Amino acid sequence: MLEWRAQALRAAKAAGIPAEEVEILLKERLGWGPLERLLGRAPAGAGELLEEVEVLWQQRVEKRVPLQYLLGKVEWAGLSLRVTPAVLIPRPETELLVEQASLWLQANPLPPASCLADLGTGSGAIAIALAQRHPQLQLLAVDSSPQALAVAADNVAAHHLQERVQLLLGSWFVPLDPWRGRLRGLVSNPPYIPTGELAHLMPEVRLHEPRQALDGGEDGLAHLRLLIQRAPDYLAPNSFWAVEVMRGQAPWVAEQLRERDCYRQIQVHRDLAGIERVVSAHFVG
Ligand SMILES: C[S@@+](CC[C@H](N)C(=O)[O-])C[C@H]1O[C@@H](n2cnc3c(N)ncnc32)[C@H](O)[C@@H]1O
Repeated sequence: MLEWRAQALRAAKAAGIPAEEVEILLKERLGWGPLERLLGRAPAGAGELLEEVEVLWQQRVEKRVPLQYLLGKVEWAGLSLRVTPAVLIPRPETELLVEQASLWLQANPLPPASCLADLGTGSGAIAIALAQRHPQLQLLAVDSSPQALAVAADNVAAHHLQERVQLLLGSWFVPLDPWRGRLRGLVSNPPYIPTGELAHLMPEVRLHEPRQALDGGEDGLAHLRLLIQRAPDYLAPNSFWAVEVMRGQAPWVAEQLRERDCYRQIQVHRDLAGIERVVSAHFVG
């Protein structure tokens, strides 16, 4: 196993894959981490298990399959979430969207059973994180991909949130018609990458993450535009609106919101890398 690890670390270095991934794979699949190594403990049935690990590792190095898909899970915002190639792997920067929504909800307490929508829920990450942090809320988690919603359903069930996170299949606001004018918040991490840039993404993303989760149309703004234009029909007065954007899109989104008379406290929030990542606003009606 020591020999396999040394070889894998060399392959990782050559392929530009973080060494940490070798350690995670060994710990997750063999229960063999730094402590076990130090104590010289090998897991029972190590030889056979190592063959399985080798198959996974080949997929990681040769096919550039993201480790999270190989393991079928990701740790995100304190949650353990199932992920498959049907859903985008939740990114650390998306925690900022949850944090901003949480801050607004703390400053503007809502009546019990108020509804917030997570549009383009994917794995259900944002809806689940908000439902856990705000037990008085109902979450409506929308996605146009039935395969993604199946993964979200597993995650909702694993966190025992079936009573408070409702999964809705359909395009953006279409399944939200019964809540027209009644939503107290809308959050979304929509596809926002310009179509022409998709071919230049790293292979892990380009080859394995769902295109439907990435493609924001010719200028990357197609879905953001819709989220800005249609939200006023669905939000109740004094509610929250926030989206995640890619580098360079925040000023355009903030300007679009300012042009409408119904948004106040329009704010741009930077992620840990200093990139303008989330735009939020208070919808006054
Ligand atoms: C960038 S991913 C975000 C996934 C998840 N919310 C997250 O932050 O990890 C965008 C999601 O939007 C969904 N989507 C794309 N087009 C959609 C549409 N027209 N209506 C609803 N959801 C859509 C995709 O299937 C994908 O799950």
